[in-house]
Amino acid sequence: KQHLTFLGLESSCDDTAAAVVRVGPDGAQILSSVVAGQTELHAPFGGVVPEIAARAHAEKLDLCVEEALTESGLALRDLDGIAVTAGPGLIGGVMSGVMCAKGLAAGSGLPLIGVNHLAGHALTPRLTDDLAFPYLMLLVSGGHCQFLIAHGPEEFSRLGGTIDDAPGEAFDKTAKLLGLPQPGGPVVEAEAAQGDPKAFAFPRPLLDRPGCDMSFSGLKTALLRARDAVVAEHGGLPRQVRRDLCASFQAAVRDTLAEKSRRALAQYLALNPAQPCFAVAGGVAANKAIRAALETVSSEMGVAFTAPPLRLCTDNAAMIAFAGIERFRTGAQDGMDLTARPRWPL
Ligand code: KG4
Ligand code: ZN
Repeated sequence: KQHLTFLGLESSCDDTAAAVVRVGPDGAQILSSVVAGQTELHAPFGGVVPEIAARAHAEKLDLCVEEALTESGLALRDLDGIAVTAGPGLIGGVMSGVMCAKGLAAGSGLPLIGVNHLAGHALTPRLTDDLAFPYLMLLVSGGHCQFLIAHGPEEFSRLGGTIDDAPGEAFDKTAKLLGLPQPGGPVVEAEAAQGDPKAFAFPRPLLDRPGCDMSFSGLKTALLRARDAVVAEHGGLPRQVRRDLCASFQAAVRDTLAEKSRRALAQYLALNPAQPCFAVAGGVAANKAIRAALETVSSEMGVAFTAPPLRLCTDNAAMIAFAGIERFRTGAQDGMDLTARPRWPL
């Protein structure tokens, strides 16, 4: 079949999402993408509460599916399959999604495809830019930080990643330590733009060690010490010093990601890819200083650079529908025995 059109469902964390994606000889097209967040539901508890998330997913999935179908102008019978996140994630939410997808597949007779959520993120550059395998991928968000080589729809190799905090988490904690609002990334970036990145000498952890592993928790400790020293000296945190702290922190993250990207790129280039490409995805990829540094490293090494638009880097169902189509094209299909997996490494 020339065109394949899939409905995708996502409910592994705190976003309920449904989308319709079509893939043909002319590339991929997102016909609809609905995301219903749960931020307000969890806000009073200071984190995602699994039971509340599962109940909200169960309530919202049907509505999201209906909305995604309406927006796409298609009915279930016009589709070629149903893809659903089958893990990793909060088990209650994943189960809600898998059950909903099974119901839809059973009712319509359409094929059912379980998708790994991380594979969804890692395949997004093919949804937006039609990248050829193998490409190098850096996932950097509040929860992830890893280098992957994507060899095929179900074949990934991990070159390294953070051994403690993710960079987005470090940005968020930095904002908190400096009395800035959440999410910390954009605020710290704005402050950093007016600060001196050389004012404080923060560590670049693990740069002295070979490989692509990273560590960001020591940076947080260094920042806390520097802040306390400033407060002890000035009896408060002067505005310009705060900007300097932000700029110095951001420079440390930027340098670490850039140097580790250089090493990951060298390992990737050893595979002799025909059309070498480095893709970056995740909330932290929105940071202009970090992005510029990664772009520079990439061009120095003769590798094309790309970053999918932010709305496709955060959790969504278009990436799940697309990953489902990619799996389906390899001949894969799941049955009614598809199970939800809380843990599922790539
Ligand atoms: O991918 P994402 O929306 O969600 C997950 O973590 O799954 O990433 C959110 C993270 C937050 O930690 C946020 O502070 C960070 O990305 N972030 C940024 C920027 N914008 C968002 N970090 C640095 N600079 C930014 N401009
Ligand atoms: Zn995700």
